[in-house]
Amino acid sequence: MMRKEKLFAGKTLAILSGGGDTPAINSSIEAIRNRASMLGFKVFGILRGWKGLLGEGDVVDLTNIPYNGIYGGTGLLSSRTNPFPGKKNKEDRSEQILRNIERYKIDVLVTIGGDDTNGAAKKMYEIYGIPVIGFPKTIDNDLRTRTMHHYQGKKHEVVLCPGFASGAMQIKKLTAKLHTTNESHQRIMVLEVMGRDAGWLTGTAMFGGAQMALIPEVVITKERKDFFFEKVKEKYMANPKHSLIIAVSEGVRWYNNDKNEIEMVYASSELDEYGHPRFGGVSGIIASEINKKLGIEARGQISGYIPRSGRCYEYDRRLTSTLADKVVDLLLREDYGKMPVMRDIVPYCEVEEFHTDAIEMGNIGNFPLPNIYYNHNEFQFSEQYVDFLTNIIGEPYRMEFNHQFPVVIP
Ligand code: F6P
Repeated sequence: MMRKEKLFAGKTLAILSGGGDTPAINSSIEAIRNRASMLGFKVFGILRGWKGLLGEGDVVDLTNIPYNGIYGGTGLLSSRTNPFPGKKNKEDRSEQILRNIERYKIDVLVTIGGDDTNGAAKKMYEIYGIPVIGFPKTIDNDLRTRTMHHYQGKKHEVVLCPGFASGAMQIKKLTAKLHTTNESHQRIMVLEVMGRDAGWLTGTAMFGGAQMALIPEVVITKERKDFFFEKVKEKYMANPKHSLIIAVSEGVRWYNNDKNEIEMVYASSELDEYGHPRFGGVSGIIASEINKKLGIEARGQISGYIPRSGRCYEYDRRLTSTLADKVVDLLLREDYGKMPVMRDIVPYCEVEEFHTDAIEMGNIGNFPLPNIYYNHNEFQFSEQYVDFLTNIIGEPYRMEFNHQFPVVIP
């Protein structure tokens, strides 16, 4: 006999997205919305992250509206609003959020975000008992997902967040293109990549042929800086084309000779509501120091918002669908305060629900790149990293024009 009524008929699930966007947020919204609708929920979208639950609220109905999950960014818009008191905003606005959750009759809240947005969701769950489900998102790929990477009989903890694969494709392509101009001028190009505290995304430049990399996890002290310059010269000279691309994370900790201290370079020191300044500009500083120290022409290039822009790639499409399947599982069990994650790193065709897990939101936080994924002596990512990323975006790629013109003697 067919059930006449859907399981969650009369209930409402609301979705919000907060923090920096990625190309996989619309895909996440679409996948969660479709599954929740099938279960019988009415589905609301909250605009601009937590901001859409302040004041009178800013809420839209997503229930039977066409949704484009391939288009990057977020149709629900985003903000870095923190409901709880922080360095910038001292006011506790969590009760306003609670009031709106009641006013709009929201039964379950799904928060698509990184450590900040989901950290606030965790508090809403712990303090007020709001039924929340976190959904991972970050271009930096540093939100702890407790995902395991199996390599040569060993298990290593890594991170896999929706958005990373699409961002990685963009950085891979961008780096592969940069070689043509760089080779023409026989330069050193310092390519800056997003990543405030972790080098996961910077490593993706290696898949477009970046020969060296600097990451936030490995501090560039005075001594290490000298060693770095030596290696830069060695690698530049060893390349018959005399051209080198060095990928650097925006949050790299770099020794400043004038101040005799290690610093991070900010584009603006103004803090967001979670206490983060805006990074930017370290590539220009490193390039000019290379120029001065080695006498080799060097340029800085900021990749900026490129990894966050454009369409959602296939791996992320599948990942968001699979994690949304796990949301269904949590809804059916009424198991809240959890976040669906991948348990293992698997290639695209194996991203299936039986590889997923749900972790307590109390256990989330930032997870930097483990030592084993980076070779300190070579300033380059290791074979373990290559295996990890190959699962996600396929083999490294680079076009090449290997010419050897015969020299004309007059
Ligand atoms: O969300 C993380 C992030 O993409 C960082 O990599 C970057 O430093 C920051 O956001 C940029 O934020 P905004 O969009 O506010 O300039």
